This record gives sequence, structure tokens and C-alpha cells, in this order.
Amino acid sequence: MEIKSKQGSLTEIACDVLVVNLFEDVKTPGGATGTIDKELDGLISSYVIKKEGFKGKLNEMYVLPTYGQLPADKVLIVGLGKLKDFNLNKIREISSKIIKKAKALKSESICSILHGAGSAGLDAFSCAQMIAEGSIIGNFSFDKYKTKKEDNNDKKEIKTFEVVELDASKQADIKQGIERGRIIGNAVNFARNLIHEPACEVTPSKLAETALSIEGIECKILEKEEAEKMGMGAYLAVARGSCEPPKFIYTHYKPSKKPKKKLAIVGKGITFDSGGLDLKSAEGMRTMKQDMSGAAATLGIMQAVAALKPDVEIHGIIASCENMPGSKAYKPGDVLRAMNGKTIEVDNTDAEGRLTLADALCYAAKLDVEEIVDIATLTGACSVALGQVAAGIMGNNQEFINALISSGEKGGEKFWQLPLFDEYKDDIKSDIADMKNSGGRYAGASTAGMLLKEFVSDKKWAHIDIAGVAYIDKEIRELSKGATGAGVRAVLNYILSL
Ligand code: BES
Ligand code: MN
Ligand code: ZN
Repeated sequence: MEIKSKQGSLTEIACDVLVVNLFEDVKTPGGATGTIDKELDGLISSYVIKKEGFKGKLNEMYVLPTYGQLPADKVLIVGLGKLKDFNLNKIREISSKIIKKAKALKSESICSILHGAGSAGLDAFSCAQMIAEGSIIGNFSFDKYKTKKEDNNDKKEIKTFEVVELDASKQADIKQGIERGRIIGNAVNFARNLIHEPACEVTPSKLAETALSIEGIECKILEKEEAEKMGMGAYLAVARGSCEPPKFIYTHYKPSKKPKKKLAIVGKGITFDSGGLDLKSAEGMRTMKQDMSGAAATLGIMQAVAALKPDVEIHGIIASCENMPGSKAYKPGDVLRAMNGKTIEVDNTDAEGRLTLADALCYAAKLDVEEIVDIATLTGACSVALGQVAAGIMGNNQEFINALISSGEKGGEKFWQLPLFDEYKDDIKSDIADMKNSGGRYAGASTAGMLLKEFVSDKKWAHIDIAGVAYIDKEIRELSKGATGAGVRAVLNYILSL
């Protein structure tokens, strides 16, 4: 799907679907929709609104054939909801739903007005960005393993999507907005594709290859022997139960100008989590190919950063391996030593993510960076607390956490802060080592965070637990069922805010 801006009049543009909009309870459309209404002899106001009862509720849609009265084949009227509740996030959401509708209508060419730039008065750049981002996110599907495309037999791919605006002075902003939305949307889908790939395809080696293939960044892979030399005893213990070799992935983007900030992103990269010897149940294991969602987000961010070229230096770090119960597997009761010398008693081999992150965080903390953010499908407890709607966030610096929460909000991702109270440290006390890797049933997301905190030395650090939001079982806002690319938009918006 190619997304472009087009200067021109809506009444003169030929396409399969022309998208216009209505705010809730507007009886007489104004602006662009008003123009189309007049061109159709008042069909929208007198028929769609009055007779058909179209209310303009958010995501409400009405398809109106034009029977040759306009060069466009059909007009798609989309409800924007109440004007007072309207914001940029709503544009992203409706844009995703519009694409799904247009696909169902088998359209190949779509033209759309610039939602939000009319009575809502939002800036053209951001509106265009949201339209591009939402359309690309809405256009995502993962059907490469279907040999026959059953339910979409003759479903056509959308070829062109044009954002139409009459005002010549807005064209440059719209173009740039589309470009930003395209980069961010593609980064999200890049992550979603990697997550959807089965674990038999996306092994640690494949994840490393993928990282190496990203253009415009530096990438280095540390093999097991090098990781051993560096003292990554926690990460390597997790890797031992699998015959797939572990791959420690280091990526780096360096701006041409002096960086405004130096940031490390650490992504959990367990390509399959069986639970190890403390094996998961069939139900619990079924979707554990998703346990590299933090890694996928990290790579998506690195890919986007290479295109966005911000004046921020960014390191992307992934300690990737499988968590399997092979004969060399690490065992409950084992004592591991992480790269910073701290020892961890294994209480449960299914609490493997924090062990791999411990060494990845140590590695990040040794770099010349000011801030570290990790993204991880870390705890079932976090999904129990916040569901599929919000990721948990915690850390050691409130300002950094706040900035990430608001960047998430801007990117359409909800974060909710969970506490790291000192008392939680008691729950990961070990009789024989510095700590143990599980804190039991209570406050599971926080006790996991308390362990991570031990490995960031004195860096500003935030931890985003995406266990509940990385892979959803129903459509939520602009996201369809399946992998969501959680963390990509939030962190990219953070980088762009610096
Ligand atoms: N990868 C899981 C967490 C997870 C669960 C992610 C569901 C996505 C969806 C993690 O490695 C894990 O198994 N955590 C355990 C920790 C426990 C043993 C302390 C959990 O949450 O049950
Ligand atoms: Mn686990
Ligand atoms: Zn895991």
C-alpha cells in the first residue's frame, strides 16, 4: 500500500472509496463532508443521517454508493465520536478500521480527507502521521503460511491511499507527517511479523540474522564463548537446556551530530519459553513464541531509528536464547553468577526472563549511556493486574518513567506504573545467594522488577512489562488479534521527544 498526499478537490478525484467523516450528532455536515453532501444533493444529511440514523459515533461507518454522481465509486462516512473526546489517537484508531473496511469492500484505491484538521483544529503534520500510522497498522496481516487464502479468496490488496487536501500550503506538512507515520507503522509491523513467526523459524540465530540485516545501524553478535568470557552466567544458564545456540545481539545507532542523549534499549529475547524444568502447562506454553516480543520491539525501534535519524545515540541489546528442559538444563537450586558478580539462586526455571535481562542490563550499564529502558514479556502477574490494555512500567527514576508514560500516551500505548517498594526486596531474599529469581505469588511484576534493579548500577532505568499487551486475543483499538508490537511506538515517541 502506497500512501501519498494529493492536492486537489474531493469532488474531482477518482477512486474506489472516498473517506469523509462526521462528528457525533452533527446533523448538517460542514467542511469537506459538507461539500460532498452538496455534490450528492444532500444525500448524507437527508438520507444517511436523517433516515438511516447515522450518529457519528466513533468507528461507526456507512458506505454510500455514488452511482456516477462523483468520480469516486463509493463514499465511506466514518464517525469520529464526540468533538470534545477527539484527539490524535482517535485518528490512528479510525484509520486502522477504515483500512479493514476498505479491504472488505475490495477497494484498491482510497482517498481520504485529512481527519482532525477541520473542526478539531489539529495540525496537519500530526493528522497525516496518524492516518499513515493507523492505516499501516490496520493493513497488517500474517498469512504467509496459508497455502490457500481461504476467507480472503478474492480479497484485493489496497494499492494506493491518498490524503486529499485543497490547501497547497499544507502539502509539505502532510508529506512529512505521512513519512513519519509510515516509518513508525512499518516498525510496529516489523515487530509483529517477527513475533508471529513460529519458534521453529525465529530461533536466536534467526533473530541475530534479522538484526544483522537492518540497514543503517551497527550490529555485533556475541557467541556463547564471548558471553562466557564476559561472565554472563545468568543468561547462559537459561540457554543451556536448548540445542539452539544463544546469541547476544548488540545493535548501535550513532547520530552524525553530537547526541542530545545516550539511551540503551534492552529487549527480552526468549524465542520460546517452555518454562525449562519447571515446565509450563499446555495452556501456558501455547503462545510462548511471543516471549521475544521485547526483542522484536527493540529491532523494530532500531530499524525506525535508522530511517528517522534522531540526534540521539541508541544501543539495542538482546540476550537471546530458548528456555528448554534439555539434559543440560539449569535446575532449581542452582546458583548463578551474573556479569556484575551478583549471585542468584534459581527458585523457578520459568522465571528465566529476568536472568537473561540481568546480564543484558549489566552489559547496557557498562556502556556510555544515561538511560536504560527494558521491554519484556516478563510476568503473568503483570497481565493479571493490567490485562491486555496497559503495560506495566516501573523503574528507579520518576522523571524518566513519566516521560515514557507520556510518550506511550502519544504513541497510543497505555502504561501504568507499578511500585518498586523496598519491602519487595525481602521476597527475593535467598538463604545461600544474593537473591533468588522468584518472589512467589504476591506482587509478581514488582518482585521481578526488584531483581532487575540490582543490575542497572547507577543508571536511570525503566522497565516495561509487556506480558499482557504483547499478544492479544481480541481486537483492541487499532490493533487486531495477535502480536501488537508493544513498546515500539512509545519508545520511538520518547526518542523523538528528546
Ligand atoms: N514469559 C513468561 C511471562 C509471560 C506469561 C509472558 C504470559 C506472556 C504471557 C515468564 O518467563 C514467566 O514464565 N514468568 C513466570 C514467573 C514466575 C515463575 C515467577 C510467571 O509469570 O508465571
Ligand atoms: Mn518463563
Ligand atoms: Zn518468559
